Amino acid sequence: VRPGETLDLLTGLGNGYDPSAARGRRTVLIGGGVGVPPLYGLARRLALAGEPPAAALGFQTAADAFLAESFLTLGCEVLVATADGSLGERGFVTEPLSRLDYGYYFACGPEPMLAAVHALGREKGAEGQLSFERRMGCGFGACMSCSCETLAGPRRICVEGPVLRSGEVRF
Ligand code: FES
Repeated sequence: VRPGETLDLLTGLGNGYDPSAARGRRTVLIGGGVGVPPLYGLARRLALAGEPPAAALGFQTAADAFLAESFLTLGCEVLVATADGSLGERGFVTEPLSRLDYGYYFACGPEPMLAAVHALGREKGAEGQLSFERRMGCGFGACMSCSCETLAGPRRICVEGPVLRSGEVRF
């Protein structure tokens, strides 16, 4: 897409993160790859409220990494992991995350990462909110193609999501 091109978008759908749930708890934002940018706006909101969170960011390689400096500028403690070890810790983002103390998290990334983050959160007694990706047919709740099973029954990621609470997700 070139600057100046016009796009036809259906946007502003579904819910978003609720930062009020984290208030008073040590908070970490956990992003994998293209799941990192949605967390940057949330980091800004938390930093402006005087509670800069930690950020744990995972990428495939150093060449794929982005935004880490921007989180640092906000005053966030930043932990980076790359699959090949070319930047930060080698392995998944859950490696550095496992050594961090936190009571609340916000996560966005591929579903295996969300599952690992969810399991780690349970071990640590932390609650959180996870933003899911799904292929979507309609985007406004009619086709059910984005449905996800939760403990409370099926949820449409385009309407009741993309953000689900850690206490309701089922992996
Ligand atoms: S994409 Fe159609 S119901 Fe969600």
